[in-house]
Amino acid sequence: AQTYKILVLPGDHVGPEVVAEALKVLDVIEECRPNLKFERSFGLAGGSSIDKHGVPMTQAVLDKAKSSDAVLFGSVGGPEWATASPNPESGLLQLRKHLNTFANIRPCEVYIPSLVSASPIKPDLVLGTKFIVVRENCGGAYFGEKVENPDIASDLWVYTRPEIERCARVSAAIARLLGRSGDGKGGGGPAKVWSSDKANVLASGRLWRAVTQDIFDKEFPDIELEHQLADSMAMLMVKDPKRFNGVIHTDNTFGDILSDISGGLTGTLGILPSASVSGIPGRGRCNGVYEPVHGSAPDIAGKGIVNPVAQILSLAMMLRYSFILGEEADAIEQAVTMVLDAKEFGGLEIRTGDLGGRSSTVEVGNAICQAVRKVLNKRDSV
Ligand code: NAD
Ligand code: IPM
Ligand code: MN
Repeated sequence: AQTYKILVLPGDHVGPEVVAEALKVLDVIEECRPNLKFERSFGLAGGSSIDKHGVPMTQAVLDKAKSSDAVLFGSVGGPEWATASPNPESGLLQLRKHLNTFANIRPCEVYIPSLVSASPIKPDLVLGTKFIVVRENCGGAYFGEKVENPDIASDLWVYTRPEIERCARVSAAIARLLGRSGDGKGGGGPAKVWSSDKANVLASGRLWRAVTQDIFDKEFPDIELEHQLADSMAMLMVKDPKRFNGVIHTDNTFGDILSDISGGLTGTLGILPSASVSGIPGRGRCNGVYEPVHGSAPDIAGKGIVNPVAQILSLAMMLRYSFILGEEADAIEQAVTMVLDAKEFGGLEIRTGDLGGRSSTVEVGNAICQAVRKVLNKRDSV
């Protein structure tokens, strides 16, 4: 059997609740595909690691992450660690840096009626939205030198040419995979790439723009590239989301913010997955950290109502990008659609509250498991 080593870091608050559902989905894949084995080990991250070890990420966990094929990450942080130093969030940043997951892929799609009805945007404006934010993940203001004193603090927002180049190569690869038609198979030629920066104000933004333009001119002349200032992009994403169908190539800070705007478009962060990868998608296996865009949602933790879809779709991204198991990834995505679309289970609406439903986290997870089983078994019997 093919064996894949996964380090599971559930983290804090809702992290463990959603990770439990993703692991059930993984069980179903194993059950339907006896030739695939997913070896799992578990560790602490964030606040739960601070409580036990005094730090948000131990060297042992970092080592384990490196010797694994991929990391399934829940979410970290919460009010109880508000004054902790280092804080829970810095553990996640350490992990990204340690694995050199330099690009963070964050898709946003509004394609079925149940999702349109959860969106605060007018239906005709939002239906058909499909873009993928590619966020630089190991540089910029997040990782520059810090000064932190009681009366003055600074974060150095620094980029080098190679850092921008490698992220641009991921954006280009994603544009090819997505395709202009958005079919995920490159239909209609490569998708358009929008590069977002503040070249009008930041020196690092000017470098971002120049290096991005260079790389596309030299290596990807067939891919359409347009630059958009990050502030006006934020406005236009809300006003006319489909305008940016394609790939949004941007730095660490802007990517963080623009990918939460995705949650404003869908009406919830609960369905938005992400993949932090250490290589170019489509070029073979690579390590990665697979985590929802959302955080630990302390306001709804422990109630069994958190939406597990973002975590489950992050698992699908792991199968696709780290393990090159496209068929199994497709099956998970199809199963999520079947459940959200209420086409399964006799039209029963199995959705959590953030999508306007009344189902629990576990009910949604179970329904997706059942749908995955159905998709994979059906495929086998054809
Ligand atoms: P958040 O993303 O945790 O929550 C924002 C809002 O969205 C909340 O109202 C929450 O209930 C809701 N929400 C989030 N995920 C949901 C889901 N799956 N289903 C239903 N509703 C959901 O953002 P926040 O409140 O600003 O941050 C809380 C903590 O999480 C902070 O400590 C922050 O630093 C941390 N955080 C961690 C990660 C991560 O670990 N990857 C990411 C973002 C934020
Ligand atoms: C995210 C989060 C993280 C980030 C935090 C928790 C470090 O907001 O993954 O979007 O800012 O990158
Ligand atoms: Mn964020």
